[in-house]
Parts: sequence; C-alpha cells; structure tokens
Amino acid sequence: MADHTHHHHHHHGGDGGPEAAEREAALAEMLDLDAELLHSLHSEVVDLVAEHAGRVRRFVDLGSGTGAGTFALLARFPEAEAIAVDGSPQMTERLLGTAETSGTASRVRAIEADLDEAWPDFGGELDLAWSATAMHHMAQPARAMREVFEALRPGGLFALVEIDSQPRFLPEELGIGRPGLEDRCRALLEAQLAVELPYLGADWGPLLTGAGFEVAAERRFTAEPTPTDSKAAGRYAQLVLRGLRDRVAGLATADDLAVLDQLTADDGPHSVLRRDDLTVRAERQVWLGRRPVE
Ligand SMILES: C[S@@+](CC[C@H](N)C(=O)[O-])C[C@H]1O[C@@H](n2cnc3c(N)ncnc32)[C@H](O)[C@@H]1O
Repeated sequence: MADHTHHHHHHHGGDGGPEAAEREAALAEMLDLDAELLHSLHSEVVDLVAEHAGRVRRFVDLGSGTGAGTFALLARFPEAEAIAVDGSPQMTERLLGTAETSGTASRVRAIEADLDEAWPDFGGELDLAWSATAMHHMAQPARAMREVFEALRPGGLFALVEIDSQPRFLPEELGIGRPGLEDRCRALLEAQLAVELPYLGADWGPLLTGAGFEVAAERRFTAEPTPTDSKAAGRYAQLVLRGLRDRVAGLATADDLAVLDQLTADDGPHSVLRRDDLTVRAERQVWLGRRPVE
C-alpha cells in the first residue's frame, strides 16, 4: 500500500522515539486495511504472477510490511516457503504474529534488514521475488534490481508492484468547504514527493532491463470504485487523510486544512468515520521481470 508519510531516510522504525513508533503503528494498520479493502485488486495481481511464475517453492517479499503479499502468495503457492524482509522490526513482528494465527508460521521466515545496506543471505536460490510499493523507497533502486537478479534462479520471476499515488476516498462535493479538496491537496503532496521519492510513479521497465531482466508483462490494475460505508473504509480514509494533512500542513490554505481536520476527526458530522459517501479508489502498476535462463 501507499505510505507517503515516511520515506527512506527514516524507515528504521524504533530508532526515532515514540513518534516514529506511532507512525509505524499507523502504517501497519493502514497496510492491513489496504489488504482487506483492496482484496480483489491484490488477487488480480497475484493471479497475473501465478500465470507467469510456474512452480514456486521459495520466494522473497522485499519490504514486506505486515505481510499482505507474503500471505497472498503463500495461499496461491501452497508448496512455497516465504522469506519476508523489512527494515522495520514492528513490521516483521506483526507479520510473524499473523503467521502464527494463520497457521503458516512453519512456512515463513522473517528477516529484519535495511535493503539500502548489504543484502541478507536468502539461503539458496529463489523462484520468485515480490516487492509491493517498497522499491520506490530504496535509495538506489538500480542496485536493488541487480541484487534481486542475483538472488533469483535462472528463469525466476521478479514481480514489482508499484503505485503512483495514494488511494482516494472523497467525493468532489463534501457538503463543507470548497469542492475538489482531495485533488487539490494531492497535487500539493505530489509536487513534494516528486522531489523526495523520485522513483514514485517511475517507469520500472528500463530499470529491470538495465539489471538484466526480460520484461515478461507490464499491467495496470484499477480497483472498482465501489461505494462503501464500512467501518474499515472510514478508518482507512482517516489514516490516509491524516497523513495527507500532515504533509500539506505548510502548503494548503487554512480553509482546506480546517476541512481536513473535520474530516479526520474521530467524531463530528463530517468525520470520515461517519460518512456514507466514501469510495476507495486505488490502482497498482505491475512489472514482471524474468531472469533469462541463459
Ligand atoms: C508502503 S509499505 C508496503 C508494505 C507491503 N509490501 C504491502 O504491500 O503492504 C513499504 C515497506 O517497505 C519497507 N521499507 C522501506 N524502505 C526499506 C528498506 N530500505 N529496507 C527494508 N525495508 C524497507 C517499509 O518498512 C514498509 O514496511
């Protein structure tokens, strides 16, 4: 999922005091809600991977977060074992907790490692590498691509899943403030992110071929913008919009910020926790890179 509240300069959760821990907790909750609410989007992506991957016995999930990808792939490849790698100990702990409760613990190994540093030893060749919305956090994505290439067996597949922006939730007319709030604030945020995370929304094809991969598929998936008034959608919108509000605090107008405050409040008539006019609109871009056999 989309995490724009925290970037590669401070992704090591735990070393930044209580505020960083809170941010990590919010991110973890957001990732779980993303997995739940965008379940059919994610399974379309996993379907595409399964079409191309062949037999998968060992795979790695790079920047696994709470394990949305890890568990979806474990379900899709019943004979596979997973190695989940993340720089944040909160994420790997949560992932291992889910492995316990879902009965997959014997098939999952978690590694806490900063992928901007030396890469961990995966203990043998991999059939599949998966990375969802994590590669744009890497300081040197081209180097990361080469590491993935080396870790895969010849013929192995790299599934690179990316986003170009965060999900949207709000209707144009909110019944409060000037229409078009979400688009306006997103535009402000995206101008900032273009500088901070230059690979967000990048064309990853050339990076893959540069590392030696053949691009086996390139697809864009869009979630059906189904109207939803579920609790989960409200909470997801609250977390994402709070992140947005923090990021545009110095850029948006006072009026827009005041509306964002009302939308993200825990109560009040305009709170997203209460609204019945939210739709979750999201997409994913997927590149499948194959390590050539020869
Ligand atoms: C937006 S989350 C995506 C999580 C998960 N792949 C998903 O799709 O739900 C990005 C994850 O990448 C991790 N990450 C970012 N930079 C990293 C790095 N340099 N090394 C290891 N993990 C990193 C973060 O800790 C976070 O869990």
